[in-house]
Amino acid sequence: MGIGAGRAAGSEWVTMTAEPTTGCPIAADFDPLAPAFVADPHPELSRLRERSPVWYSPKLDRWVVTGYREIEHILADPATFSAVEAQRPLHPPCPEAAEILAGLPLVPTMSNCDPPAHRRYRTAMTSAMSPRRVAGMRPVITRRATELIDRFAADGRADLVPALFFPLPALTVFALIGLPLADADRIKAWCADKLEVNWGRPTRDKQIRSALGMREFFDYVAAFVAGRRREPGDDLVDQLIADERSLTDPEITSLVFALSFAGHETTTNLLGNLTLHLLRRPGLWLEITEDRSLIAGAVEEALRFESSVPMWRRVTTTETEVGGVRLAAGSRLVLAFAAADREPGVFPEPDRFDIRRANARRQLSFGRGIHLCLGAGLARLECEIVVNLMADRLPGLRLAPGASPRFTPNLSFRGPLELPARWAGS
Ligand code: HEM
Repeated sequence: MGIGAGRAAGSEWVTMTAEPTTGCPIAADFDPLAPAFVADPHPELSRLRERSPVWYSPKLDRWVVTGYREIEHILADPATFSAVEAQRPLHPPCPEAAEILAGLPLVPTMSNCDPPAHRRYRTAMTSAMSPRRVAGMRPVITRRATELIDRFAADGRADLVPALFFPLPALTVFALIGLPLADADRIKAWCADKLEVNWGRPTRDKQIRSALGMREFFDYVAAFVAGRRREPGDDLVDQLIADERSLTDPEITSLVFALSFAGHETTTNLLGNLTLHLLRRPGLWLEITEDRSLIAGAVEEALRFESSVPMWRRVTTTETEVGGVRLAAGSRLVLAFAAADREPGVFPEPDRFDIRRANARRQLSFGRGIHLCLGAGLARLECEIVVNLMADRLPGLRLAPGASPRFTPNLSFRGPLELPARWAGS
C-alpha cells in the first residue's frame, strides 16, 4: 500500500491520514516504543481508536486493531487470523542474531501455534495445569510471598517490584513446572532476553547476546526435560512426559520454554499495575484492606484499566475485511487490547478506575477463544494472596512521596519497573 500521504492537522501526538486509493487510515507517527507512549499509552490509543477501529502503522509495518468488537471477531476466527506471528521478533533481527534464532529447535506449541496441532498441545497442557494442581499452589504461593515480605516488612519501606512482584510469580511458576528454584535468577535473566528480542527494539549487540541467551535457555530446559525422563518427579513437567498423547522431548521442551516465560513476566506486571492503581487512590487501598471481598473485582479492573498485555499479534491467512478495512492474505496485525478495554461503548466511563465495575471481567487481557490464557486462574490467585498479605503485613501502605514509576519499552508486556512504597514498619 502507498504510505506517503500528507498529514492531517489537529492531533497532538500522532497524525492520521487516509491512504489515497484504499481509504485505509494511516497513523504515520505511531510508535509504541516511543517514551511518551510507554509512559502512558492510553490518550493516544483512545484518540486513534475514535478515528478508526483498524489502521495502518508504517513504523510497525502492521495493521493495528483498536476496536473491541473487531478484536473479539479476530480472536474467534483462528482459521482466518493465524497465531504464528505471536512470538516472532517485532523487528527483523540482524543476520547474526537471526542465524542463532533460526537454529533454535523450538516447536510452536501454544500461543504461536494454530489448529490442528494446537489442539493436541493445549489438551495436554490443560490437563497438566488442572484446577486441582493450580489450587494446590495456594500454600506454596502463600509461603513464598510470606518469606519475601518477612525480609522487608520491618523496614517500613521497599521497592515492591524487586522485593516481591518480580520474584514471586517466577518462584510460583517454576515450582509448578518443577524447575529448580535455585536457578530462578538465571531463568529470569534468560526470559528477559526473550522479552527484548521478541517484543522490544534491542541494539545489534544486545540482539546477539539475547539470542545466545535464548539458546542457553533452550539447552537448559532440554537438559531438564531429559533429566526428568530418567528420574520422574510429581510436577507439571512429569505430567507432560506421562501424557497419553506421547509428546516428544522437543515438544515438551518447547512447552516448558513457553510456560516458564508466559507464567511470570505477565503476573509481575499485573501485580505492579494493580498495586500502583490502588495506592494512587489511597481511599481505595483502605477500602480493600477493610473489605477483602473487593480484591477480585480490583484485579479484573486492573487488567482492564492497565492491561499487562496491552497488544498481541495475529496474521491473516486469507484476504478478509475487518472494521471496514480490506486486508490481503499475510497482513500482520497488532491487536491493541489496551485500546479495546477502554472503549466507552463497552465500558462506560472507561478512564475511571472502578473496582466495582460490573463488567470488568469482559477485559481482553487474557485473550479469548482457543488461545485464552491458561494461567489466568493462577495469576488471579497470586494477586489475591499478595494483596491480602500486603493488607495484613504492611499497615498504612502507600506510595513513596514523588513516586512516578517508569515502564518497560515493550510492545506486549506492560508494568511498572519500580514501586517505592512506605508503611508503618517496626
Ligand atoms: C496477568 C497475567 C497474565 C496475562 C495478562 C496473560 C495473558 C495472555 C495472553 C494475552 C495470551 C494469548 C492469548 C491469545 O493469543 O489469544 C496468553 C496465553 C497463554 N498464557 Fe497467559 N497471561 C498471564 C499469566 C499467565 C500465567 C501465570 C501462565 C502460566 C502459569 C500463563 C500461561 C499461558 C499459556 C500457556 C498461554 C498459551 C495458551 C494457548 O495458546 O493455548 N499465562 N496469556
